[in-house]
Amino acid sequence: MLLSRDELKARIAELCKEKNAIIMAHNYELGEIQDIAHFCGDSLELSMKAANVDADVIVFCGVHFMAETAYMLSPDKTVLLPNEKAGCAMADMADAGALRELKAQYDNPFVACYVNSTAAVKAECDVCVTSANAVKIMQQAPKDREIIFVPDMNLGRYIEEQIGRKMILWEGFCPIHHRITPDMVEKRRAEFPEAEVIVHPEAPLEIIHMADEVLSTGGMLRHLNATDKKQFIIATEGGIIYRMQKEHPEKQFIPLSEQLVCPDMKMIRLEDVVKSLETMTTKIVVDESIRINGVKPIKRMLDLS
Ligand code: 13P
Ligand code: SF4
Repeated sequence: MLLSRDELKARIAELCKEKNAIIMAHNYELGEIQDIAHFCGDSLELSMKAANVDADVIVFCGVHFMAETAYMLSPDKTVLLPNEKAGCAMADMADAGALRELKAQYDNPFVACYVNSTAAVKAECDVCVTSANAVKIMQQAPKDREIIFVPDMNLGRYIEEQIGRKMILWEGFCPIHHRITPDMVEKRRAEFPEAEVIVHPEAPLEIIHMADEVLSTGGMLRHLNATDKKQFIIATEGGIIYRMQKEHPEKQFIPLSEQLVCPDMKMIRLEDVVKSLETMTTKIVVDESIRINGVKPIKRMLDLS
C-alpha cells in the first residue's frame, strides 16, 4: 500500500519511539528529510551530536563517511544509513594504501584528513578536520613537521593561505564545488549586485577569493542569524537553501548555479527511512582494528574544536 507523505512521517515517528531511534540529517539532505530529522547540522555538529547521543539507534541521513564517523564515535549504538548507495565522491578519491605510500616518502609527517574520508584513511591520520574548524585546528599543527593533507586539495589550499604554511596536498576534490567557475560568480553578482556571496571552502581558491564570506554549512546558518543583510548568493550544494529559507523567510537566497546538486545527498527519501527502521538496515559498522585508530583523529579534533 502506498502511503502519503504525512502517513510516512507518522510511521517514522512511531518507529523512532518503538526503536528508541534518533534521526540525524546533514544540511544538504532533501527538505522532507530535514523536516523529520531530530537533529540537522554540518559535519562537525553531527559528529559532536553522535558522540553524545542518548538513543539506541542513529538513523543517519547523510553519506557513508558520516555514518561511519558516527559509528566510530558510538560503537555501542546501531547506526543505520537508509540508502547504502549514498557515498561521497571526494572521500572515494583517497585510499589508505596510497596514503601509507605517501607518508613513507617523508620523515615523520603530520597527517591531517578532512572528515570527508573513509575510516581506513582516518586510521592513517594524526588529526581530522571539518570545514568548520579546519583553520583553527591546522594552526595548532606541530611547527617542526611537514603536513600531509588529504583528500580535498581545494580546502587544503584555503588552509595553506590562512595558516601561512605549505602542505603536501592530496589531489582530491568535491566534484560539486569543483565545478564552480568565476563566470558563475560574475554572472550572479551582475544580476544581484546587492547580494552577499557566501562560499563553502570546498570551492577552488580563485572562487574563495571572490567571496564575501567563506563558511561551513553550519557557519553559513549562524552567519544568517547574525546579519541584517537580506539577499545572498549561495555557493555550495543547493540543499542548504531549504533550511535557510525555512529559518529566514524574509531573506532571499539565490543559488549560485542550479548545477550545484550532490546526487548522493538526495538519495534518501521518507520511504527509505521507514524501510531502514522497519528492517534495521543498512547497518554501518567499522572493523574494530580500523575503528581503534580511525577514531583517534576524530576525538583529537573534538578536543581541539
Ligand atoms: P559541512 O556541512 O561540514 O560544511 O560539509 C559540507 C560537505 O560537503 C559535506 O559533504
Ligand atoms: Fe561529497 Fe561533495 Fe557530495 Fe559533500 S557535496 S557528499 S563533499 S561529493
